[in-house]
Amino acid sequence: MGGRKKYAIIVAAGSGTRMGGDTPKQFLNIGGKPILRHTIERFQQLSFPVGIIVVVNQEKKDFWKQYCTDTGFLERYAIPSGGITRFHSVANALSYLPDDTVVAIHDGVRPFVTPEFLERMFEAGEQLGNAVPACPPVETVREVSGPESYVLKRDDIRLIQTPQVFRSEVIKAAYKLPYDPSYTDDASVVEAAGYRINLVEGLRFNTKITTPEDLEIARLRLL
Ligand code: C5P
Repeated sequence: MGGRKKYAIIVAAGSGTRMGGDTPKQFLNIGGKPILRHTIERFQQLSFPVGIIVVVNQEKKDFWKQYCTDTGFLERYAIPSGGITRFHSVANALSYLPDDTVVAIHDGVRPFVTPEFLERMFEAGEQLGNAVPACPPVETVREVSGPESYVLKRDDIRLIQTPQVFRSEVIKAAYKLPYDPSYTDDASVVEAAGYRINLVEGLRFNTKITTPEDLEIARLRLL
């Protein structure tokens, strides 16, 4: 493993509108623990220490801090406020990231990531400057355009996951760019800043809990 200090930015400031209900999905319990806690615990299981930065919405901060105090979870961590989009949430978090470090930016709603996979991603990100996990789709993919649709070459498509890992100077330089709605992950920002993106093999298990169906499947996976 490379010599830089390791950090994780866990983004958990989404409102979870695709899930329905009042509680954002990252705070829903599975097996007696919030999904967000399961996700953070994966980083605590690594063979090296990782500084934790958890991005939470302003109005959820008291709830999360209270939960951590009450259950003795996560004694030392930074807690920047969420922004209006994921881009703004990550931008806020980057001001807490020390220089000359390597950072994994991970969705709070991807609790199935494994410590082995995280270590592999940290290693690749530190070595290459950026590392982005990608899986080929198992289904056929079509592009829709109004009433028409066209089949795409599946072999040329990749589905992108998190954690995406960056050297601190790379990600900080990229997030100086003004916001653009096409930025749906960190790699799209880093790419727009002129870097070539390094894809590494993703983990099929590492799904994102987004819809009520995802939550049902997550419960069956018995965290
Ligand atoms: O909205 P999306 O599914 O892309 O969200 C991915 C992750 O980004 C989630 O963990 C969500 O909590 C987080 N997010 C955030 N701030 C926002 C929007 C999303 O931290 N404003």
